[in-house]
Amino acid sequence: MAKKYYITTPIYYPSGNWHIGHCYTTVICDALARFHKMKGEEVYFLTGTDEHGQKVEKEAAKRNVTPMAFIDPLVAQLKDMWKLLDISYDRFIRTTDEDHVACVQRIYQRLYESGDIYKAEYEGRYCTPCEAFWTESQLKDGKCPDCGREVTLQKEESYFFRLSKYAPAILKLYEDNPEFLQPKSRVNEMVNNFLKAGLTDLCVSRTTVKWGVQLPFDKKHYSYVWIDALSNYISALGYGTENDALFRKFWPADLHMVGKEIVRFHAIVWPAILMALGEPVPRQIYGHGWLLIGGDKLSKSKQEAAAGELTDPYELVKRYGTDALRYFLLREIPFGSDGEYTGERLLNRINADLANDLGNLVSRTQAMIAQNFGGKLPARGPVEGPDGDLIAMCEALFEKVDADMGALNVPDALADIFAVISRANKYIDETAPWILAKDPAQRERLGAVLYNLAEAVRICAVMLRPFLTKASAAILRSLSFDENAGFETLRFGTLAAGTPIERIPPIFPRIDVKKERAEVEKFLKERHAQTEKAAKPSAPASDGAPMSEGKPEISIDDFAKLELRVGEVVACERVPNSKKLLHETVKIGDKLRSVVSGIAEHYTAEEMVGKRVVVVTNLKPVKLCGVLSEGMILCAEDAQGNLSLVSPERAIASGGAVR
Ligand code: MSP
Repeated sequence: MAKKYYITTPIYYPSGNWHIGHCYTTVICDALARFHKMKGEEVYFLTGTDEHGQKVEKEAAKRNVTPMAFIDPLVAQLKDMWKLLDISYDRFIRTTDEDHVACVQRIYQRLYESGDIYKAEYEGRYCTPCEAFWTESQLKDGKCPDCGREVTLQKEESYFFRLSKYAPAILKLYEDNPEFLQPKSRVNEMVNNFLKAGLTDLCVSRTTVKWGVQLPFDKKHYSYVWIDALSNYISALGYGTENDALFRKFWPADLHMVGKEIVRFHAIVWPAILMALGEPVPRQIYGHGWLLIGGDKLSKSKQEAAAGELTDPYELVKRYGTDALRYFLLREIPFGSDGEYTGERLLNRINADLANDLGNLVSRTQAMIAQNFGGKLPARGPVEGPDGDLIAMCEALFEKVDADMGALNVPDALADIFAVISRANKYIDETAPWILAKDPAQRERLGAVLYNLAEAVRICAVMLRPFLTKASAAILRSLSFDENAGFETLRFGTLAAGTPIERIPPIFPRIDVKKERAEVEKFLKERHAQTEKAAKPSAPASDGAPMSEGKPEISIDDFAKLELRVGEVVACERVPNSKKLLHETVKIGDKLRSVVSGIAEHYTAEEMVGKRVVVVTNLKPVKLCGVLSEGMILCAEDAQGNLSLVSPERAIASGGAVR
């Protein structure tokens, strides 16, 4: 039976404004998940969103929408980001998913019945207008951090989890299982900062914040943070239901990968909850370091303050591609430690490793096979000169990378693959194929050299599959080799003579760092100006000035000329040879319409199917790229140019009028 591998990221707060620091945990997990899958293991990779709590409740209220209506687009944005970064998760769990909520209720009930959850009074600093409790450390100059008003010491009835009871068991867990919490330094932090002094019980319910899971045994109370969030790791597997096959197969998790600031919850609170439930604890928690900018944790506010650095993953992928961003995150930060992010470091990595080392090796190999052998792989020859060294390195590569990945050392795994790439480049210099090509007597040797290079390229491309998802596939395809090849294909000498070798355009074109830095700076300035403009309130209607931002005022009769209807996208495909256009078939009432929209950079054709949209139905039909368009689908656009479909907030049947 195949070995199983269950790996999780933390579930993300739906804060929006994502930066590359957010991508770090998930990209590492993705590389690990892909690596284990390629080893033939049965992998389950979980990620998702942590949606309950006061912050969401308040933000939604501020906008006069339900918490769900506030969160949904943010979750969609996060999913888009994962798609952009080729994240191969098996489930995206939301803490608002029905099965998760039911599971959390069962967990609370069991812990309540076993006496691990009890009722007591929570005492804290309370801000009456904000209806919020704050801890001493959260206060700003002794006042409410949200509204700046006075806070008062108040008591609230709450339920508590008996965390204190589990301190000795957790200390023993660390002692008996040195692998449980990694890197080692995190164990010392947990022991010295928390466990030594003894643990205090954890407040796990609130009556003031209602955007949470209602407790089954006391309906006034709603879950408060960590039990709800942490339980996602087992609720996703059907824990406690009749449908618990996944739980039985995959639990305990092999790895919870988390940022260092949430190690305490994963390495102390979570095992205590599991012990209280009588379930096994995860095999390993890994607390990785942070991406820093100017020495501080990259965060929403820091990102804005850090003028001159682009940290928006959407824009970074648009400029440099999925692989470049993945590579930087996986390679640059020494694993377990913090690492500094600058655009310059990113560009240097792209140029040095991807464009120079990998890109050159691939294009030189392809070009020489095209020039000298008409694009057909020559035959393998006897081992001569530096061949042995190159072949030995290729043959030893898997074991090295496997050991690194086993130790969760992803940067070293990549360094090992790139050592072979460098060796192969050096091999070209040593064997000088351009000189061999001039001498007809050396034709076989030239063929053998190029064969060895093609094999080195192939082996590196297979090894790179978990890390560089797009480039590895493109390279393997160019060698007429299976782009989904597993590690069982790594034997040197696998490619058959005569295999077509295609010349492809450079996979990582070299970037002019100075020019690119200047462009990024300009882009950031423009974007900043746009954001400022968008944030400016429009003039109030009462002073007689028009509310519009530039367009002339119109009368209600002008508006009435528009015919807007709700439609349902029943089919969608890309318009051939167009980067921007999608061709939708939209059902409006009982009629179908053909509509072309410029949204292919924001939605995939598959995503569009089933969407309920608003269509301008009395626009004069036109042909776009040869395809008939009988209407226009409405979208909202943010300051960064991201589009979001406009959709009726409640279920309105297709054909419904929009007024
Ligand atoms: N919702 C909690 C986790 C609950 S898990 C049961 C949470 N969410 S988060 O959105 O704030 O963070 C998600 C992940 O992003 C965490 O692993 C966090 O460490 C990571 N990062 C956010 N900023 C980061 C950096 N600047 N650098 C590296 N990772 C960082 O915490």
